[in-house]
Amino acid sequence: MDFTQTEEHRLIRETAKEFAKSLLPGIIERDEKALFPHKQVTQMGQLGFMGMMVDQKYNGAGLDTLAYAIAIEEISKVDASAGVIMSAHNSLVLYGLEAYGNEQQKEKYLKPLAAGNKLGAFALSEPEAGSDATSQHTTAIDKGDHYLLNGTKNWITNGGNADTYIVIAQTSPELGHRGINVFIVEKGVEGFAIGPKENKLGIRSSDTHSLLFTDVKIPKENRLGDEGFGFKFAMKTLDGGRIGIAAQALGIASGAYEASLNYSKERKTFGKAICEHQAIQFKLADMEMEIEAARLLTYKAAWLKDQGLPYVKEAAMAKLFASEVAMKTTVEAVQIHGGYGYVKEYHVERMMRDAKITQIYEGTSEIQRLVIARDILK
Ligand code: CAA
Repeated sequence: MDFTQTEEHRLIRETAKEFAKSLLPGIIERDEKALFPHKQVTQMGQLGFMGMMVDQKYNGAGLDTLAYAIAIEEISKVDASAGVIMSAHNSLVLYGLEAYGNEQQKEKYLKPLAAGNKLGAFALSEPEAGSDATSQHTTAIDKGDHYLLNGTKNWITNGGNADTYIVIAQTSPELGHRGINVFIVEKGVEGFAIGPKENKLGIRSSDTHSLLFTDVKIPKENRLGDEGFGFKFAMKTLDGGRIGIAAQALGIASGAYEASLNYSKERKTFGKAICEHQAIQFKLADMEMEIEAARLLTYKAAWLKDQGLPYVKEAAMAKLFASEVAMKTTVEAVQIHGGYGYVKEYHVERMMRDAKITQIYEGTSEIQRLVIARDILK
């Protein structure tokens, strides 16, 4: 077992860490006013972060999942909103297009997305289909030369700013989950409207919207993958997505820990720096230990995926554990900062709010436990 980082992974970390510094200016305002980081997302595209795992022949950076996890970790240390914009785009949109798209679809949609010239969104959740993803009410009825798409999608990351949407819909309700398909939908097509932006607790500068489809004509060539493959497509996409969210959670936890460590060396009480008090040392020790465990689980899941080995359970374990560590670490970070932790200038209150979503999206903690248990018992 080799735990040393390759030169390539070290370079990716350095590049991502350097870029992440540019996310700090304006971060409090972006959070308060829920402003999408347009300029920064463009820069992420120029640096290759918006097509990290895509083959170079489709404008990607051709890197592995571990490199991707490292980049999301470093970016999310500073700005978890930028982390999820990148994660949804790479894991939930580009993965499926590259793995299951035909050459025409890759040429038309994957290439501009992987180059970072366009942004993608993944639309699975609905008002009544969150955890229970098979209960799709959005329909795509086969009309011969096109499908007619009707329904509502909820909680769509990048929903307002995306150009290309991967939309899951029911084509044959009588077939249950085997009658679900997946479609590529372009922004601006007739009958496709973006709902109002959600006013969220955290990751406020990433935009989340509902999507409304009314008699939207989808060309036949925009169905992605084989007939009836939509549900499995979504599940496979989410398996990889969970590694991205684990890395995001890991980044949030690491950012809060580093802020706490630095603060504890500067802040004095009872005549000494607070890091000299055992009460603070115990917290720092737990944070460091738990973050390291989350990192190992996350990197292992990424490594398994890169080896072509099964990683469904490991991705769920990484996402579950890292998101719990993110929540616990950020709460402790606010505690270590005392009153200063409760105000915006010290950033840890934002990290605490941002951490919560990692226990909810791409499958709640309860769903991850279900996925793990099913894998153990199968
Ligand atoms: N890979 C491949 N196939 C899979 C699979 C996987 N990981 N998981 C399930 N399947 C297959 C099963 O084998 C089964 O196929 P067959 O019938 O042919 O055997 C089929 O899919 C149905 O599987 P289940 O019976 O296990 O389905 P289920 O209804 O019991 O539920 C679930 C499975 C794990 C609970 C699933 O619904 C799930 O993951 N729910 C959570 C959904 C989710 O994560 N939503 C998040 C939305 S996206 C998001 O948050 C993005 C964002 O904005 C950042």
